[in-house]
Formats: sequence, C-alpha cells, structure tokens
Amino acid sequence: MTLSVSRYNYSEQFGPSFDRLMENIGTQILEGRYILTDEVKQFESAFASYLDTGHTIGINSGTDALIIAMMALGIGQGDEVITQANTFYATVATICFVGATPVLVDANPHTFLMDVAQVEHAITSSTRAILPAHMYGACTPMDALARLSQLQRVYLLEDAAQCHGARFEGKRAGTFGEIGCFSFHPSKNFAAAGDAGACVTDSAVLADKMRVIRSLGQRRQNEHVALGINSKLDSIQATILNWKLALLDAWNESRQRIAANYREQLAGLPLVFQETPAGSTHVYNLFQIKTDARDDLLDHLIRAGIDAVVRYPQPIHLQPAFKAQGWNRGQFPVAEDLAANTLCLPIRPDMSETEINTVCGGVRSFYGAGR
Ligand SMILES: Cc1ncc(COP(=O)(O)O)c(C=O)c1O
Repeated sequence: MTLSVSRYNYSEQFGPSFDRLMENIGTQILEGRYILTDEVKQFESAFASYLDTGHTIGINSGTDALIIAMMALGIGQGDEVITQANTFYATVATICFVGATPVLVDANPHTFLMDVAQVEHAITSSTRAILPAHMYGACTPMDALARLSQLQRVYLLEDAAQCHGARFEGKRAGTFGEIGCFSFHPSKNFAAAGDAGACVTDSAVLADKMRVIRSLGQRRQNEHVALGINSKLDSIQATILNWKLALLDAWNESRQRIAANYREQLAGLPLVFQETPAGSTHVYNLFQIKTDARDDLLDHLIRAGIDAVVRYPQPIHLQPAFKAQGWNRGQFPVAEDLAANTLCLPIRPDMSETEINTVCGGVRSFYGAGR
C-alpha cells in the first residue's frame, strides 16, 4: 500500500547541494580516509559548541554511547543505576551489559517522562547513577535530579537519544550530568545515514577516558592502556552529521509548529497528549497520543495510508530479556498504560499542510468528527 503520509523523507534532509556532499564523501572513500578523520574531529567540535559543552566523543551508536559512558565512570558489578520503565530497551540493556543492576521508577502520567518524585525512594547505598531518558523529545525536569544526584553523591547520566536540541531552563538536554548519550539513528531528529552516536561531557578527564575506551583501550596505536571496545563514529557519518547540524534547530522548530497544529486540530477528541514540563522544551522526535481505542485507531490510520506506529508496545519490566530482574506486571502502571494506549502520529519537519490535514482528518474521522 502506498502511504499518504510517511514517517520519514530522507531526500528532503539534504537540500539542493546534495551533489557537493556526495563528492566530499566520494573523495574520502577514494583517498582511504575512513577512521577518526578531520571530519570526525570537526563534527565533535561542532556538536560540543552546539550543545555548549566541553567535549563530544563520536561513537558507533547510541547503545554503545551508553555502554562507554558507564564504563568510563567505572559503573559495574554491585552498582545500581536508576532509570524509567517506559524507556527504550537499550537504556536498560546497557546497564546490564556493564554488569550493573537496573532499578526502575515509573513514568509521570502527564509528561510521560521519568517520575522524578519516585527517584529519591529508589536510591540505596548501591546506587551509582541516575539515568533519565528524555522520552519522545521532551527534556526531563533536570533541576530536581541534579540536586538529588549532588546530595546523594551519585552520577547523573542522560539518555538524550530522542531529544537533540531540547532544553531545560535554557540548557541543552544531554549537558546536565557527567555524561550525555546521543543516538543519531536514522529515526532521530538528527539522523546519520546508518548507526551513529556520541557521548558528551564537560570533563576533560572523562572525555579522554571515553576516547580511549572507544578505540580498543588505545591512546596510541598498539598501546592498550585500558579495557576498551571498538566503537568510533564513522567518518562518512560525521560528514553527513556536519552537513545537517546547521539545519537542526530549524527542523525542531518545524516539528514544534506541526505539533501545535496537531494539538489544535485534535482538541476536543477523547485523546491525551504528552505535557511538556514547565521550563522544558519538546523537539517532537515522536508525537504521542493516548487513547483507550489505540489498536482500532492505529488500524484505521494505517488503512488510510498514515504511517502511525507504537513506540513502545511493551514496557521494560515486561520484556522477556529482563525476566531475571524479577519485575512484575502491575509494578509500573503508568508505563503499562503508555505501552497499551499510546501511538505516534507521523511528524517530519518537511510535512506539507495537506499531509498535516490528512493526519488530523484521519484521526477525526475515526471519532466521527468532521474535518
Ligand atoms: C531512548 C533511546 N535510547 C537509546 C537508543 C539507542 O540508540 P541506537 O539505536 O543508536 O543504538 C535509542 C534509539 O534507538 C533510544 O531511542
């Protein structure tokens, strides 16, 4: 079935001088400039400036960025890391990968973000870090978490995979704690042409550690000074990200305009929207709506060619991969409610008025409301 409104339109992301970008990439390929090139360094410096932070370390993916961040902080066996039950699998799997224990809190029923009020009660003598995931593009209120992490002497990390450019009280998401972790997966607002990610930090010491870890523990070739993995941002991806960075803020503003249009056109229907916390901005990687009739509405939209999708249909505590953690159904009711009752409407910065109206018309017709 051909889509009337798709979720992605990659050709629109490159603009009219795409040939120049391809020529640049072609030259790198022919000259054999592949690994940790000037293009990677340029991107690392540009992204750090964009976020107004000290250092960016380009990594292979957002998943590896989380692993490398925790390795650099020495988080492992016997340590607990607090995150939320409605995040993406990778946030929690990476805690397990480094040998630590994930401790979940529920989501806030209004903001769909980490319920910050629950974090204090989840802290034990084994807690080493708090790791909020800024879900769907909205920045978690970071003031309370920053205060708590200082008071309790635990690290503050951020899973910023879905919220490039979002802010809390003027400061960019990803820059509040020791390390922020980004994904540039093609589904993100700031997308590479494949897997890519980054860690960001203000600390020169942590930046150095993460550079060593991403390069098989090497500071210089054949001098392996630490345990490391092989997870470097690719030069071609860095070139693409450099190309797109100048456009990111304008794209996020377009997403915000489209989200406002959705909220206006869908007002009065039996739908719940994600609330943006006071002081935060939302860059709408995903536009979530919550309804008791989720599955029927999803089916209706898909039959109309509207590329709606569920992110994510199963909360963390009910994923088979985490069975050993001993979590139970009913333990995180908000995360369960979100998994059962939300769906994402397509949102892209280049959406036309007609596409926006088609999406809203599709939702309104499901409820028997006029266009
Ligand atoms: C919240 C969150 N965390 C982590 C990741 C992992 O990033 P990646 O797919 O680049 O490994 C993603 C994206 O897929 C994500 O959405």
